[in-house]
Amino acid sequence: MNMKNVYIIACGGTIAGRADSASNLTGYTAGAVHINELLSAVPELDKVARVHGEQLCNLDSSDMTEALWVKLAKTVEGIAARDDVDGIVITHGTDTLEETAYFLNLTVHTHKPVIITGAMRPATALSADGPLNLWEAVQVAATPGAGQYGVLIVMNGTICSARFGYKTDTTHVQAFHGRQMGVVGFVQNGIPYFYQAPLRCHTFQSKFDIPAETLPHVAIIYCHVGMTEKTVRALIQDLSGIILVGLGHGKNPNYIESVLKEAASTGVKIVRTSRVLGGIVSEGGGQGFICGDSLMPQQAKILLQLSLDKGETEEEIQHNFRIY
Ligand code: SIN
Repeated sequence: MNMKNVYIIACGGTIAGRADSASNLTGYTAGAVHINELLSAVPELDKVARVHGEQLCNLDSSDMTEALWVKLAKTVEGIAARDDVDGIVITHGTDTLEETAYFLNLTVHTHKPVIITGAMRPATALSADGPLNLWEAVQVAATPGAGQYGVLIVMNGTICSARFGYKTDTTHVQAFHGRQMGVVGFVQNGIPYFYQAPLRCHTFQSKFDIPAETLPHVAIIYCHVGMTEKTVRALIQDLSGIILVGLGHGKNPNYIESVLKEAASTGVKIVRTSRVLGGIVSEGGGQGFICGDSLMPQQAKILLQLSLDKGETEEEIQHNFRIY
């Protein structure tokens, strides 16, 4: 059998979490177990691929930073360029996993599989889900052609694209889904089954490079009944962009419109997204406002940051939201 070489980059999370007892499923320290220990819990990996593990960081993904994204993207791109690596797996906390996945989906240029996985139960738990998720992620990473779908999220037997995947549950093991688009495929008995491919640009099709250092400052503002102009004014100081998590089809209360228009008139780009979990935002663009299409707010933020980093115009940014 032609064994594939899969490189694992560990970033921490619950998959590397440690609790004081096997029955403690929620009170644990994330990012406490080293990748070598995680690998030794899955001896079956030896039959799937030659794996090599590297610890990039070991943290609760609530503490993930944009600077670490840049470091991770450079690491992934460097490893993907190696002839002796067929696929890459990243282990990561699930709380910000979808953001990291989308950042890599836009900035890493490779045809090789890049898979991101995590766990909902700590490594010390009774019935921990991390070992199986890791095993399945390595299976997908070792599958020729899996890179054509862009960065993939593999969790609990489901394969989601980084474009649509997001966390849908606080604690249960079935925690990721692909919005209304569904999943790209499933993993069963270690075999990936693919059913559909995301059409939006990713990885080897992406025009975005890994940013040099820091990303432009973009804030996310969540609309709700009772939000005040004062709060919005306080939030929008020293920004390059705003992601407006609007009501319904991306709307906002009338009384904050003038504050937003003021910001737009100074060059701040405002992307309309929705707090509704399905559908697209296709209206309300122009004069500094951009329609966020079907991106989740936290993913729209990344696309806006990368677009601003390239110094793109409002029209170019709007186009990006149609094709990425
Ligand atoms: C984290 O995101 O690091 C903690 C939660 C998790 O991984 O499920």
